[in-house]
Amino acid sequence: MKVVIPKETANGERRVAVVPDVVPKLSGAGFDVWIQAGAGLEAHHDDSAYQEAGARVTSDLTELFKDASAVLKVQPPTLDEVNLIPPNALLISFLYPARNTEVTASLAKRNVTALALELLPRISRAQSMDALSSQASLAGYKAMIMAAARLDKIIPMQMTAAGTLAPARVFVMGAGVAGLQAIATARRLGAIIEAFDVRTAVKDEIESLGAKFIEIPLESSEGTGGYAAEQSEDYLRRQRELLAERIAASDIVITTAAVPGKKAPTLVTSEMVSRMRPGSVIVDLAAESGGNCEVTSPGEETVFNGVKIVGLYDVPSSVSVHASQTYSRNVGNFLLALLKEGQIQIDFNDELVNASCVTHSGETRLGFGGAATGNNPSEGNLS
Ligand SMILES: NC(=O)c1ccc[n+]([C@@H]2O[C@H](COP(=O)([O-])OP(=O)(O)OC[C@H]3O[C@@H](n4cnc5c(N)ncnc54)[C@H](O)[C@@H]3O)[C@@H](O)[C@H]2O)c1
Repeated sequence: MKVVIPKETANGERRVAVVPDVVPKLSGAGFDVWIQAGAGLEAHHDDSAYQEAGARVTSDLTELFKDASAVLKVQPPTLDEVNLIPPNALLISFLYPARNTEVTASLAKRNVTALALELLPRISRAQSMDALSSQASLAGYKAMIMAAARLDKIIPMQMTAAGTLAPARVFVMGAGVAGLQAIATARRLGAIIEAFDVRTAVKDEIESLGAKFIEIPLESSEGTGGYAAEQSEDYLRRQRELLAERIAASDIVITTAAVPGKKAPTLVTSEMVSRMRPGSVIVDLAAESGGNCEVTSPGEETVFNGVKIVGLYDVPSSVSVHASQTYSRNVGNFLLALLKEGQIQIDFNDELVNASCVTHSGETRLGFGGAATGNNPSEGNLS
């Protein structure tokens, strides 16, 4: 069985799907590992490191893809790349089928079995394959580092002969994997941290990392249906006002609130940004799905009323060494989990396959598997 790792071609993508360390694990399971020349360079793995690990390296794309059983990538393939994948081969990568409908259709047309890593259910068995978490954790760390580097202040309190410097105030909105890592990083740097999430269950985790959970206690609803609706509007208004206050008091705001498969919710309006002190920094990790901040320019760094707003894409790529290292463990573990008696087997009774499979046998699977099986975290299918 030949497994192929092409060089990533998406703009700014610096990760590689498999690092040399993972090659012997794949070879040991019966794969001939082939990698495109230069594929690991941006993650600081040269071709000779792959050769020493037992992989074959080629710059000839026809030779690379010929008779491949499996292709491992980070980003969804382009239409040209789809045409290189042999019919009936397996593809594992991030795919985001809802926003890559043309690519998904052409994968189906080419008879490729495409498994989307982001659709894996978040069950214990899939933890070692959870590329969303491994990459989000790095993004959360880097978001805080990017914010600190752009702030014209230091983060920790300093008592000097020239007076006391107050610690920076950080507000993290959305405390999933990325948000919690941003909090942990801010804490190590010495910031005072507050955090907010719609899931109040995350309060304990936020507090255990040394941050304060911002919440508005719900009032008891004793009235009739009409009254309850009014209260809810009042609740939302008070919530917006409290968030606006906390944002205005912060030197750094890091937003990570994503809703899988949907546009990111707007949490920071332009009016809220206007209330921030000039020189403050917002890092919007949801920029790729539209942004949590109304004035984020997706993919760019901008300044609004003196506030720096970072909406850069693909933050994990900026730490390509660790991002590739963790991603390759995830993708490698998934591929190995598909082996039955030494052969790749696409078994729809396996919930990992059923949830993540986007195309198979010439068809696009209805609801993209994941959507149909409810692996959306907001649907509560978490372990
Ligand atoms: N194997 C597992 O059990 C497993 C693995 C990974 C993650 N998880 C859990 O899943 C949860 C979400 O993971 P994620 O980081 O991928 O989530 P995500 O990237 O989809 O969202 C980030 C956070 O934003 C929050 N959010 C969404 N809308 C919001 C809004 N309007 N206002 C404020 N916050 C909002 C979400 O509640 C979430 O905590 C976390 O609790 C995480 O610990 C479980």
